[in-house]
Amino acid sequence: MSGTTDAGLDDEMLSAGAVADPYGYLGGLRAVEPVYWNARYRSWVLTRHADVSVAMTDGRFSSDRIAPVIARERARARPDLDLVETFELLDRWLVFRDPPEHTRFRRLVHKAFSPRIIASMRGEVERVADELVEAARVEAEAADGVVDLIREVAFPLPAIVIASMLGVPAQDRERFKDWSDDISALVFGALDDPDRHGRARVGMLELVGYISALLERVREVPGDDLASALVQARDGEESLTEDELVAICVNLLFGGHETTTNLIANSVLAFIEHPDQAELLRADGSLAGAAIEEMLRFDGPAKSVVRIAAEDIELGGRTIRAGDRVFVMLAGANRDPEVFEDPDRFDITRKGVGHLGFGVGVHYCLGATLARLEGTVVVPRLLERFPRMELAGEELEWDRVILTRGMKRLPVRLNAS
Ligand code: HEM
Repeated sequence: MSGTTDAGLDDEMLSAGAVADPYGYLGGLRAVEPVYWNARYRSWVLTRHADVSVAMTDGRFSSDRIAPVIARERARARPDLDLVETFELLDRWLVFRDPPEHTRFRRLVHKAFSPRIIASMRGEVERVADELVEAARVEAEAADGVVDLIREVAFPLPAIVIASMLGVPAQDRERFKDWSDDISALVFGALDDPDRHGRARVGMLELVGYISALLERVREVPGDDLASALVQARDGEESLTEDELVAICVNLLFGGHETTTNLIANSVLAFIEHPDQAELLRADGSLAGAAIEEMLRFDGPAKSVVRIAAEDIELGGRTIRAGDRVFVMLAGANRDPEVFEDPDRFDITRKGVGHLGFGVGVHYCLGATLARLEGTVVVPRLLERFPRMELAGEELEWDRVILTRGMKRLPVRLNAS
């Protein structure tokens, strides 16, 4: 079935073209109807920087998109109680809470997951990055020079770092990838995966069980890890409840996996495709921070976030009705020509980049400092160590999802000397 509207807009946000090049697709929407009702997905789609900023900072746009799903399921004649149980666990995540509950929750988490604690991780991040880059070189030697950079570096780095911060023993880390993949299918909506609810439920319950046991251990014998810091976090009389502790650990482990993996992989791809920019960064390491900011703008891991209108809202001459779902397209905002000059150009010397890659407002990414640290440590190392790295032929396959932007594999010929 073709989803093309009278205005020539394609409602299939996951067509092969839109998945490979979301920027072209979103640019087309922005030019014609920046506040667009997509009938196929029964959702609004916002693509202008100004509207996206409003939707993320105006309290009438609610982040609690889980409670309505639970209510709908419960109202059915024969509700799927397994599904309800899984969604009830998700509903406790910080990212799905609205103020005032969100405010208190975030304040307490921030006491433990603070910029100071993250800055203290630099040495560890550098050590792990060095090890992984060297392991990739060795792997390439054994494999005709070609490696999947996601499997060798972009996935393991953030996974090892967040697991080690939380105090998860090294031998348990492999299990997290499976759990994270299962939950990811639900949270980020792999629409072509019919079994996503069942898998997410199993993954979520196992992960919750694992985290509860971990918290139990650090209550008895506190360490200097993040899990212990979260258990001890106090604000006056207040502390995190058991449910909140489990939810935030799951949210951090999960947040620490997929997004940063995609930041690293998308960055490497952009530098391979823009060798002049890679050369600039190699020549001047002090550009690393600016390079990662430009990456978050140019091809960041978060394509969209979701909000639900808590009441009728006028935006861009349209009326968004109470209860309507809104895709707040960060990828659209980040290429808005009203805000960024020549927005489709990858330019690591760009000044005053007001990108929305980490969101904005009360839900601004809690892991931003950590993600930046990991990106600025590992991407320049890869470019430095493998200056002649190139794509290894295979066509790139992007994840077929609305919310994130990532590749399944990044096969590269390292050409290490
Ligand atoms: C480049 C990597 C990352 C990107 C692009 C990213 C992006 C985002 C975005 C756009 C939001 C806002 C969501 C919304 O408004 O609905 C967010 C929130 C969040 N992120 Fe990240 N993230 C990244 C890495 C991380 C990491 C490494 C962690 C944790 C270790 C993390 C943990 C969180 C948490 C807990 C929230 C919820 C904050 C709240 O609701 O107050 N993120 N992230």
